[in-house]
Order: sequence, then C-alpha cells, then structure tokens
Amino acid sequence: MSERIGGARIYLKREDLNHTGAHKLNHCMGEGLLAKYLGKKKLIAETGAGQHGVALATAGAYFGIPVEIHMGEVDIEKERPNVIRMKILGAEVVPVTVGGRTLKEAVDSAFASYLSDPVNSIYCIGSVVGPHPFPFMVREFQRVVGIESREQFIEMTGSLPDDVVACVGGGSNAMGIFSGFLDDPVELYGVEPLGRGAKIGEHAASLSHGSEGVMHGFNSIMLKDADGAPAPVYSVASGLDYPSVGPEHAFLSSQGRTRIATATDEEAIRAFFQLSREEGIIPALESAHAVAFATKLARENPARSILVNLSGRGDKDIDFVMEKYAAFVEADFATAAGARSED
Ligand SMILES: Cc1ncc(COP(=O)(O)O)c(C=O)c1O
Repeated sequence: MSERIGGARIYLKREDLNHTGAHKLNHCMGEGLLAKYLGKKKLIAETGAGQHGVALATAGAYFGIPVEIHMGEVDIEKERPNVIRMKILGAEVVPVTVGGRTLKEAVDSAFASYLSDPVNSIYCIGSVVGPHPFPFMVREFQRVVGIESREQFIEMTGSLPDDVVACVGGGSNAMGIFSGFLDDPVELYGVEPLGRGAKIGEHAASLSHGSEGVMHGFNSIMLKDADGAPAPVYSVASGLDYPSVGPEHAFLSSQGRTRIATATDEEAIRAFFQLSREEGIIPALESAHAVAFATKLARENPARSILVNLSGRGDKDIDFVMEKYAAFVEADFATAAGARSED
C-alpha cells in the first residue's frame, strides 16, 4: 500500500490480531481483574460494534463472572457475528429499543442497569468516557498499545514515526496509542467519522463539529441538538457513532497537542477494500477510518513515516458490507492499477 501511494511509509499496529479481534480486550481484562478484586458478581457494559461486548464476555468467562451487555437494536442487526459470539461466551445480550437504538442509548441502558444494583455489579465501560475514574482507567489499560508501538517502531526503523493515526469513537484505541508518544515530537491524529456529511445527524465527528457540554457523567466536547440534548449521530461504523469523545481527547486537542481529522463512510469503505486487497488484511470499519486518513496523509507527505493503530479486524462487518456495498465488491478500484486511477 505504501508503494502504491508513492513514498510515505505506512506501518500498522496490529491490534486486530488480539484475541477477540480488537484492542478492546486490553481494557476488558483489566476491568475483569478489578471486578474480581472488588468481589463483584456481575459485569455490565454497553457495546456498539459488539467488540467491547465480545471482549468483556471473554473476560467474564475467563474470570468466572456473569456478563450483561446492552446493545442497540440497529447494531444487533448490523453486527450479528458479534452478537452470536457474546451469546456463545455466555453473556446476556439486552436489546435496546429506544431512541436511535445505537451506542448512546446502549450506554444509557447499561448505566440504568448498573445503578439498580451498584453494590454487586460493576460497570465495565467500553471507552475513555464516563465519569472519573473510567477515562483514566481505560486509558491506563490501553496504554500498552502505545508502549508496544513505540518500542516496536524504534526497533524496526531506528527512529520514531512522524505521525500516529487512530480512529476516535469514544477514544480508547487512540488514547492508548497516543499515550506512548505524548512527550515525543510526533504528530498525533484522531480520525472522526464524517458519515454521510457535515449535517447534524449525518455524522459523529464530535470534536470537529461539537461544543462543550455534559453527558453520561463527564464534561467534554459533544454534538448537541437545538435543545442542548445529545444529537442523533450516524456512522457506517457502529463503534464510532457516539455523540462525544473522552475528556482527555477534548483537552489534548484544545491544547493543540492532537489534531482532529475526519473520514467519510465512503472513504472508510474504500480503505476497507484497499487494505483487504493490497495487504490481505480486512480491517474493522472503525479502523478503516484511520486507514483512509493515513492514505490521504501519505499521499500528501511522501517523506513521512505514518503509524496507524489498526484497532480491529473486519470479520464482524463482512455481512453488512456485502449487503450494503455490493457495488464496491464488484468494482476493481481496489486493485493496484484501479486504485491509482481512482485516486
Ligand atoms: C475495532 C474498533 N475500533 C475502534 C472502536 C472505537 O472505540 P474507541 O474510540 O474507544 O477506540 C471500536 C468500538 O467498538 C472498535 O470495535
């Protein structure tokens, strides 16, 4: 892919190769350990793409603690393989039927369930969002991605990357990898989902288009409707359609330490096919947003080395992509020659 783009070197941190197929297991094992230490009897969480749900169901099975996962009906339909995995792993999947029936409503529902029995249960949140200490805790569990990447990058190339790129839903994979490079002269890019366009309701690019507010117990930048309530959001990637981002992302971008970029649905789908066909790696639709932006950056900056957090693999997305993007499957744009002419 780097050769095709012409100059810039793109490196992937392969979190997609983790057990359960995404970075989510890093914080779920930490949350499972914490629950065991605290003597909790139930793990409760939300899930969007199902990756956090599967990872937590796995941690629950490993530590012998029952798991309850709240998931919007829209996502249940879209991410069927992960719903089946959670059930096989012994988790209870609670369908959420209100509002937009996606990630935000799943968080509402999981919080409500947790608050009905906070003594015996623990909320194992799926990203660097929510009230303290969740954003801090999840970042610390994900920090391993940054530590490993930094070491491995220096080992492979003898120097630091120029740019680090990660997709941002709530922001856990991005905070994980960014943590390894915060004190280095490295540009950090968080890529938000621009969905079908910049109109409210058509995307979930919270930092790019939002303003300060409070939601789910934390103060950050968020997308709001005319009444100041969380706005409806949309992205082709279920794990990215959340109307806010972790507070540390809001802080880092306000300080100019991180840069915010976007990728549309269509750019992400193109990147999904390009990485599949040029490297033999099927990325998660979430991660495809980071790949899409990295290819753009690489094209414009041929001298740079770019590290992308490939946060997950795309097995969960294949039925959805085949159904909704059949035209892309037939198109030969993703072959090397086709991609060049399309670019
Ligand atoms: C593979 C993958 N990447 C990224 C995300 C987005 O979450 P976060 O921004 O917390 O990394 C998800 C969420 O489900 C995911 O499954």
